[in-house]
Amino acid sequence: MSFAVRDPATGEVLDEVFDAGPDDGIAALDAAVAAQEAWAATPPKERADVLRRAREGMLARIEEFALLITREMGKPLAESRAEVNYAADFLQWFAEEAVRISGEYRMSPGGDFRIVTTRQPVGPCLLISPWNFPLAMIARKVGPALAAGCTAVVKPAEDTPLSCLLLAEVLTGAGLPPGVLTVLPTSRPAPLVERLLADPRLRKLSFTGSTQVGRTLLAQAAGNVLRTSMELGGNAPFLVFADADLDAAIDGALLAKLRNGGQSCVAANRFLVEEAVAEEFAARLADRMSRVRLAPGTDPGAELGPMINSRQLDRVARLVDDAVARGARVLTGGQASGPFFPATVLADVPGSALIHQEEIFGPVAPISVFKGEESALALANDTPFGLVAYLYTGDLGRAVRVSERLEAGMVGLNRGLVSNAAAPFGGVKASGLGREGGFEGISEYLSTKYLALGLT
Ligand code: SIN
Repeated sequence: MSFAVRDPATGEVLDEVFDAGPDDGIAALDAAVAAQEAWAATPPKERADVLRRAREGMLARIEEFALLITREMGKPLAESRAEVNYAADFLQWFAEEAVRISGEYRMSPGGDFRIVTTRQPVGPCLLISPWNFPLAMIARKVGPALAAGCTAVVKPAEDTPLSCLLLAEVLTGAGLPPGVLTVLPTSRPAPLVERLLADPRLRKLSFTGSTQVGRTLLAQAAGNVLRTSMELGGNAPFLVFADADLDAAIDGALLAKLRNGGQSCVAANRFLVEEAVAEEFAARLADRMSRVRLAPGTDPGAELGPMINSRQLDRVARLVDDAVARGARVLTGGQASGPFFPATVLADVPGSALIHQEEIFGPVAPISVFKGEESALALANDTPFGLVAYLYTGDLGRAVRVSERLEAGMVGLNRGLVSNAAAPFGGVKASGLGREGGFEGISEYLSTKYLALGLT
């Protein structure tokens, strides 16, 4: 059985890929279990070397990777190249981390024995990656899993399995032993994933996707008390105080909104602007957004590509229509055209609008006004999500006060981009559990073993 992968800009079939079912999942887990002991025992430097060679192999084929990402996901080629570099950074970062896995030796409080800790790989993992960054998000999981000494079964998103398959090819070319990593594209993820989560040999789940699916997976993972890392939905506030550098805030807003066409869990979802500068901010943002060039990602002039599929397009259109029906004003954009949704700015968006409650995952910037710090914080935190928040202010005291009280795992302070392989990415509240990247990222794939060392 196979399924078709389509170009979201044209609907053209790019490739037919193997359509894995639950039995294929178990076969991949068999292979991961069989390879686990030897991979865990492989010297860290050798594991690191595989990741390093894979990084080089990926960068040597950057144009091929970038074109594949653009063809299957739709983003402009320049953004796809940036994604390949972002993915390569994860492989490099975790190659460097592989050789730094450490433990502790300390005296017990009574001095009668020693407390020794080591860190061991958790074991075979299931890594589930999303369609929006089809290469970088899987590199962010595969990098630490392999560096820690874990084997893995990877399930890429149905819309975008091709870049992940190419990554597996590069890893194999870099010397990854058979069975350590298997990619399972599937058009029917639910039964395959459920079957794997029910198998007690699986020891870890890492998922990036919606909070709704994350909750279902967490419930399934509870059966075998699995280690989980959950990178779920966001509803990022983007706060602009009247004392902010407005030029920087506009640049930051464009980046936080339009990176990846707004199809990102860290995309700014609610622009909250202090009354004194709200009108100017809205007019300037609308002017810049109205000049964003919409075209297929393969067009060299494209700044914004198509939406990934009609489901996402309809969802964005529904959120815009709902906001307008509740009194929001469209300053630019607002109407889909074929598979594209233009960069859109909405002003006077009331708090009751669905667009304030749901993750937009599209290039729409809804703006609302606040008066003073307390009201800004109350609005910003009025959501079950807590992935990232952005804050623009020129006042150092306010920057510290507000950053500390924002309920988010990450804060962009006078900066519209937080993502970096060296930084801990992750949320609080319904945005997830655990961290990816940074020093924290590899810990998600390690478990601490304590040895009570007697002295006699
Ligand atoms: C995401 O949208 O899932 C993550 C994006 C990022 O790493 O910046």
